Amino acid sequence: MTKRITKAVIPAAGLGTRFLPATKAMPKEMLPVVDKPAIQYVVEEAVNAGLTDVLMITGRNKNALENHFDRVAELEASLEAKGDTAKLKKVNESTELADMHYVRQGDPLGLGHAVHRANMHVGDEPFAVLLGDDIIDARDELLTRMLDEQVKRDASIVALLEVDPDSIHLYGAAAVELTDDPDVVRITGLVEKPAKEVAPSNYAVIGRYVLKPEVFEILANTAPGKGGEIQLTDALMTMAGDVDGTGGVYGVVFRGRRYDTGDKLDYIKAVVQLASDRDDLGPELRPWLIEYAAGLQKD
Ligand code: G1P
Repeated sequence: MTKRITKAVIPAAGLGTRFLPATKAMPKEMLPVVDKPAIQYVVEEAVNAGLTDVLMITGRNKNALENHFDRVAELEASLEAKGDTAKLKKVNESTELADMHYVRQGDPLGLGHAVHRANMHVGDEPFAVLLGDDIIDARDELLTRMLDEQVKRDASIVALLEVDPDSIHLYGAAAVELTDDPDVVRITGLVEKPAKEVAPSNYAVIGRYVLKPEVFEILANTAPGKGGEIQLTDALMTMAGDVDGTGGVYGVVFRGRRYDTGDKLDYIKAVVQLASDRDDLGPELRPWLIEYAAGLQKD
């Protein structure tokens, strides 16, 4: 009997130094993407895929994250007194989303180490990992497809995106073999942030994983890799070999809309794209953008 996967792990302990000084006293996950903190999009994605038990791996300076998913009695009372139900609804959205849990990472030893910190909570069942820097458009399917493939193949699954070879050094890169499904590849190798010249392909691992629990023991035995950090990519490379009989690793190729909020330029693009797509902002923003861009061309 296959049990339905219900747990999502969201590492959120990074220092967010790319966004200083904005992230001096505030976690980068709280930066607003239009009018919602980036982290809320990610939790919503998990919940939409049926993952209602969310564990965040946090660190110092991350209290705002817990507060964001908790009630805020004074604000609720004041909005209620004013009869402002629209705003009250917005305040309560994040509170009622999921069953939230938190554990601190402690030592900042890398993504693999952060995921290993979920072992106690997750126990012996497959689970999803969602990285906060990537926002997947809610209109495009990814996580549900990955969960289905996990069950079907009894393997670990990563999300892959074909990127420009010039940016493969920013990602885990996968060596792949085709399967009879055009959206699914078998992973034969993985390298964390390779130089373009040595990258096995331009298939980049984007921040979504559905992992078998055996990953915990492998992570515990994974030596520090790139940047002196314990890399999830390296543990998955071990699993890809399937020497332990855990079914190997497959990639679901994502062809939908993804927004990167991890660095400044991409973050700005994400805000503009998402805002111009919205019914409340788009109709005014789009003509303004066109005019603004035309002005830029003249310069
Ligand atoms: C992490 C992973 C990398 C992956 C990327 C996706 O890197 O280590 O393999 O491709 O997320 O966003 P980070 O961007 O946290 O440095």
